Amino acid sequence: MTDEIIPVASSFSGSDMSAERYKARYARSIEEPEAFWREELGRLDWIRRPEKISDVSFNKDDFRIRWFEDGILNVSVNCIDRHLETRANKPALIWEGDHPAHHHSITYRQLHDHVCRFANVLKMLGVKKGDRVTLYMPMIPQAVFAMLACTRIGAVHSVVFGGFSPEALSGRINDCQSEFVITADQGVRGGKAIPLKDNVDEALKSAPGVKRVLCVKHTGANVHWEEGRDYWYHDLSIQVDAHCAPEPMGAEDPLFILYTSGSTGKPKGVLHTTGGYLLWATMTHALTFDAKEDDIFWCTADIGWVTGHSYIVYGPLANGATSLMFEGVPTWPDASRFWQVIEKHKVSVFYTAPTAIRALMRLGDDPVTKHDRSSLRLLGTVGEPINPEAWRWYHKTVGNGHCPIVDTWWQTETGGHLITPLPGAHGLKPGSASFPMFGVQPALVDNDGKRLSDSGAAQGNLVLLGSWPGQMRTVYGDDQRFFDTYFSTYPGYYFTGDGARRDEDGYWWITGRVDDVLNVSGHRLGTAEIESALVLHPDVAEAAVVGYPHDIKGQGVWCYVTLNEGVEASEALEKALKDQVRKEIGPVASPDVIQFTPGLPKTRSGKIMRRILRKIAENELSSLGDTSTLADPGVVESLIEGRVKAG
Ligand code: WTA
Repeated sequence: MTDEIIPVASSFSGSDMSAERYKARYARSIEEPEAFWREELGRLDWIRRPEKISDVSFNKDDFRIRWFEDGILNVSVNCIDRHLETRANKPALIWEGDHPAHHHSITYRQLHDHVCRFANVLKMLGVKKGDRVTLYMPMIPQAVFAMLACTRIGAVHSVVFGGFSPEALSGRINDCQSEFVITADQGVRGGKAIPLKDNVDEALKSAPGVKRVLCVKHTGANVHWEEGRDYWYHDLSIQVDAHCAPEPMGAEDPLFILYTSGSTGKPKGVLHTTGGYLLWATMTHALTFDAKEDDIFWCTADIGWVTGHSYIVYGPLANGATSLMFEGVPTWPDASRFWQVIEKHKVSVFYTAPTAIRALMRLGDDPVTKHDRSSLRLLGTVGEPINPEAWRWYHKTVGNGHCPIVDTWWQTETGGHLITPLPGAHGLKPGSASFPMFGVQPALVDNDGKRLSDSGAAQGNLVLLGSWPGQMRTVYGDDQRFFDTYFSTYPGYYFTGDGARRDEDGYWWITGRVDDVLNVSGHRLGTAEIESALVLHPDVAEAAVVGYPHDIKGQGVWCYVTLNEGVEASEALEKALKDQVRKEIGPVASPDVIQFTPGLPKTRSGKIMRRILRKIAENELSSLGDTSTLADPGVVESLIEGRVKAG
């Protein structure tokens, strides 16, 4: 925590956004939302411009969230066709492959042809408006073509991160009854092949509803083939042409589903719709990143996460920007890869995760400073709180002290940035996400749901008053779960699941999740999911998973496991359990610590007291709090003893 304010950078002091303009625009967005949103509608090309702005209620009885309801548009037209008049030869995408020798760019004209062909191939396979199409793709341009091709014909994509396991993939395919899967033979990251098609084959053994698999040839590896089900993209694409009429879509028609972890149960299919999401991604990309025509914009996320959706694909392309897409990892072939890529492609705006910054900071300044980064003018972070030390290194060493950092707070559910500095408007406090985006009203409530004062310093649970266009509309197929998860804890508000603090200057600081969601290397994981994976092992009686502070990952995964009677703890079993989690969810969820324990701390009614488990994992043994309500207080002693061995 710091009171230091780093002033607006001189390069931004004359920018489009100033403190006064931010204040005036923000006030208009809250006080005259109709007028404000009517002005903002001009960021998109509409087939029919909406008359209705919003229709929202967070109350149980008449719950609804609708934006621009009578508007009609097509997302791919906004991301491609409308740029062809002035930007046909401008690169829409710059692709940097895993291997530094592999790179090329794709102009807006070429993007148009690729997307139309892809859309025609999808039609040929029988994909129709409203169908769900699952993508399980590496970070190659065809992934973007596939997403945009879905939007061209009104299909709903569900992108599943390529690091998820076959089990996780089949769960997500079945949940949205997807009959189509798009994949590639393999992906490559850090020189290692990822067997995507093999994983799809495995997943489909338990996803019998899938009729067609479309496979992009990427590495040329041999893959298993099921005639009649599997199709090579390159075989079909030569049979179709490069024109495909865009499907007119209602603003509230579904655009995509993206699965994300919550505090309970299976991952939820977050559903975003066409008009509101696209406007939000477009507006926030333009404002937060001060988008300029000549920018080379690089967001390092994977398209399997919402950050990739909004800030590799939809926001930048709708704004006619050049978006860089990177297949590899920051440390291969060596630790200077990010900075090499920045030098090579003259990246001007760079957006990454604190976990990457922390990992690279450890490797010293040399890998950074040996590359020319003079093209950079703005830096951003996303996904987790950034500690001031990492912020300062990013600012000073990576940005040479002259690039503002936009620390953007948002969620899969929010579609795009909700709290973030705007580079010309706000002095920066290292570690603070600063101020709300236009139309966004953050507030704090205590644990009883009592609203805390809107002025002065305060700390509590972060809620939002009212809606914004990029808000998710439902959990796919489960409206009740949507309401229960986000609107029932604090009635009348959207509950974010995050804790936050507002300081005396009005700056917002996100303090982290207050529910059972972990944030490991910027990836969201549910403790419940990891627990279910662990208890699938025949030797496991019970498991409880908590997060603990981790220097690089932000949070690590700590698993308390009790074994069945007569089973001995062993290193082999520890490894088997780690493998089990990787198999059920994927390597991202790999446990850092498995602590075998004879029992878990439970209340007399059988509820696991996670607070105690968290404290023990954090090694905060002096602040365990009241343990007298435990059914068996002796359990705490054995947990503390066991910790020494495990940690
Ligand atoms: C966390 C990623 C602090 C937060 C876009 C949120 C952050 C969760 C920040 C959503 C930030 C995201 N500062 N915490 N700038 N950005 N978070 O859905 O806990 O993968 O609730 O969306 O990440 O993760 P998700």
